[in-house]
Amino acid sequence: SASTTVPERNPSFSMLSSDDIEYFKGILGEKNVVQDEDRLLTANTDWMEKYRGSSKLLLLPKTTDEVSQILNYCNSRCLAVVPQGGNTGLVGGSVPVYDEVIINVGLMNKIISFDKVSGILVCEAGCILENLITFLDAQGFVMPLDLGAKGSCQIGGNVSTNAGGLRLIRYGSLHGNILGVEAVLANGDVLDMLGTLRKDNTGYDVKHLFIGSEGSLGIVTKVSILTPPKLSSVNIAFLACENYFSCQKLLIEAKRKLGEILSAFEFLDNAAMDMALNKLEGVRNPLPPSLHNFYVLIETTGSSESSDKEKLEAFLLHAMEIGLVSDGALAQDINQALSFWRLREGIPEALQKSGAVYKYDLSIPVEQMYDLVEEMRTRLGAPTKVVAYGHLGDSNLHLNISAPQYDEKILAQIEPFVYEWTSKHRGSISAEHGVGLMKANKIYYSKSKNTVQLMASIKKLLDPQGILNPYKVLPHSLST
Ligand code: FAD
Ligand code: MLT
Ligand code: ZN
Repeated sequence: SASTTVPERNPSFSMLSSDDIEYFKGILGEKNVVQDEDRLLTANTDWMEKYRGSSKLLLLPKTTDEVSQILNYCNSRCLAVVPQGGNTGLVGGSVPVYDEVIINVGLMNKIISFDKVSGILVCEAGCILENLITFLDAQGFVMPLDLGAKGSCQIGGNVSTNAGGLRLIRYGSLHGNILGVEAVLANGDVLDMLGTLRKDNTGYDVKHLFIGSEGSLGIVTKVSILTPPKLSSVNIAFLACENYFSCQKLLIEAKRKLGEILSAFEFLDNAAMDMALNKLEGVRNPLPPSLHNFYVLIETTGSSESSDKEKLEAFLLHAMEIGLVSDGALAQDINQALSFWRLREGIPEALQKSGAVYKYDLSIPVEQMYDLVEEMRTRLGAPTKVVAYGHLGDSNLHLNISAPQYDEKILAQIEPFVYEWTSKHRGSISAEHGVGLMKANKIYYSKSKNTVQLMASIKKLLDPQGILNPYKVLPHSLST
């Protein structure tokens, strides 16, 4: 197993009874109260197949009112629940630890309104991210958020994890782009914070508590999102660098020279490239065969085809002349552009297919980031593979250690070293994936004692019995 220290089942939670199930059927109807074993196995298992719960019940509400009724009942019965979206989370937060009831708002997938003047989209939380991207594209707009899991993750899950993704460098985090949220509290109270305003300083901005709280404070049922217009000119370059210092210099140059049109700056090392080429069907290296140590993917998005291209070409020429880049390809058509993205976005899938993977999602100052990767390689040696990639433009490293199987000895070589190293450099042990179950007991590496104590007080206020996503986010010593 993945060996996360799992706390005992909290004995104050009730066991599910047949009366409970009848009650839920009365609210949701027979078919949206799921007890089918195959569907439950899927819902009990996370994307990496690393965490597995034993829930006997999956509930599929269709309206906010249904969510409210279910939660009100669960709270009165002290039945624990796990909010689940597309179940693409990577920290064991989206699956039950024990027998928690799974609530998935996937049937709440309607677009409520779209204002073409302001670009503000209001939708239900169960909308799949890719469907929102497609809808907006037809309207001449884009989502400020994109990530490899777009085909199955839900916007409610994205908001609940404050997902970062591939365009954060351009559009900023969801704390800036989510203008409103409707959420249901543990006791069933509905909080209408579904504003569509850019500016609203009427006291505490409570919706932000629900952005990134990973289902521990309420169930997100609706969101409003500020979406930027789709611009006519998108270009993407796939580049090779021979050392990490060049990647850094290239980032500084890109920010300075591409500034307003820069829309992505991603990197992968040679080990990540190998992993993608070996494990993904139909993926090829865009560059001619030759050994390179690092690869960088740069995307620009702007409104002038000719001047954007000119800018990017001048940038690339300069980067080659001063030796930052040793080879590169500029996508010539949409298919090539998609194939560059497929290679980058496919890395988590390639790792998932290659056996056990220890995943770390770290914010570390760019200058020091790759030192950690090299130290880790030295510590571990064969047969592990240390694979590094991520959102370099946001100082976000995805450090992955691939091994033939999960092994306590390997884990002991990685942890607590990786967390101590990150903490020492004042980084974050979770840049974008959240805390979930995996890092609930590690939170002090990145947050002060008093801050965590305040988090626990907020949790207690909003969910006094702790029925919402128990054992997750907060350290176990504070959560029961
Ligand atoms: P789930 O995995 O189902 O749930 C995630 C958390 O949110 C859980 O704690 C759950 O309880 C809670 N939750 C879900 N829905 C709700 C709701 N309606 N109300 C309250 N709580 C809810 N993350 C990034 O930040 N950047 C990336 O680039 C990125 N790329 C990824 C690529 C792949 C291939 C995969 C598998 C994952 C990736 N992730 C990334 C991780 C993941 O956080 C995101 O995929 C996504 O935001 C999770 O959404 P989901 O609907 O699948 O949520
Ligand atoms: C990514 O950037 O590919 C995602 O965050 C997933 C991962 O870290 O593997
Ligand atoms: Zn990522």
